[in-house]
Amino acid sequence: MDEQFLKKHQKRIKRLKARVKSSRVTVHNMRPYEDFLYSLGKFWKFGEKITILEIGVGYGQSTNAFLKGLKDRVEPIDGIENDGILYSIDIKKKHQRSVKDEELKKRWVFIHGDSKEVGWDKPIDILFIDGSHTYENCRADYKKYEPFVLEKGLILLHDVLYPQMGVYKAWNEIKYPKFILSMNRPGLGLVTKE
Ligand SMILES: C[S@@+](CC[C@H](N)C(=O)[O-])C[C@H]1O[C@@H](n2cnc3c(N)ncnc32)[C@H](O)[C@@H]1O
Repeated sequence: MDEQFLKKHQKRIKRLKARVKSSRVTVHNMRPYEDFLYSLGKFWKFGEKITILEIGVGYGQSTNAFLKGLKDRVEPIDGIENDGILYSIDIKKKHQRSVKDEELKKRWVFIHGDSKEVGWDKPIDILFIDGSHTYENCRADYKKYEPFVLEKGLILLHDVLYPQMGVYKAWNEIKYPKFILSMNRPGLGLVTKE
């Protein structure tokens, strides 16, 4: 691009750059699934306290979606507990700042560390794997946390539709019943244990 061209189209280029920057149409785009994650947080196992474990917070799209759902769980009826908590593991401490709303933070536990190394001993209702996308790490996350998922629980893996990503291979090795929500290219994989 020569200087004259740049000068002539400067405004347009600036506008396009801004649009690309604000666009969420990237490999890790979670946007199409936010409503679904919200609904899981809100409705999964009505009348019980649920535990969600998320690996990979990033800039918090999935985290905030789950938390908004948990916050909106309907009021308990006749003293039935109907609450939930989201544990999120991320290797980068800065992602603790991805949840800003104080109300949402009440149901959130951020665990700073490598998912392969942090200690875990709780039963899980929903496991969401969206941390490291290499085959080895994704498989390690699945192997480590899947045994904690309750029989009627749900396991989700993001980005299962890209053959060039390790998640794809790890996903294809899973033997439980599974299907893919492919509302956009990355694909959200769902696994049930029964
Ligand atoms: C694709 S982003 C997560 C996006 C997020 N789920 C969302 O919807 O916005 C992946 C995240 O996983 C984290 N991560 C990568 N390797 C990890 C590991 N071994 N343990 C924990 N977190 C890891 C990265 O720091 C990054 O924040």
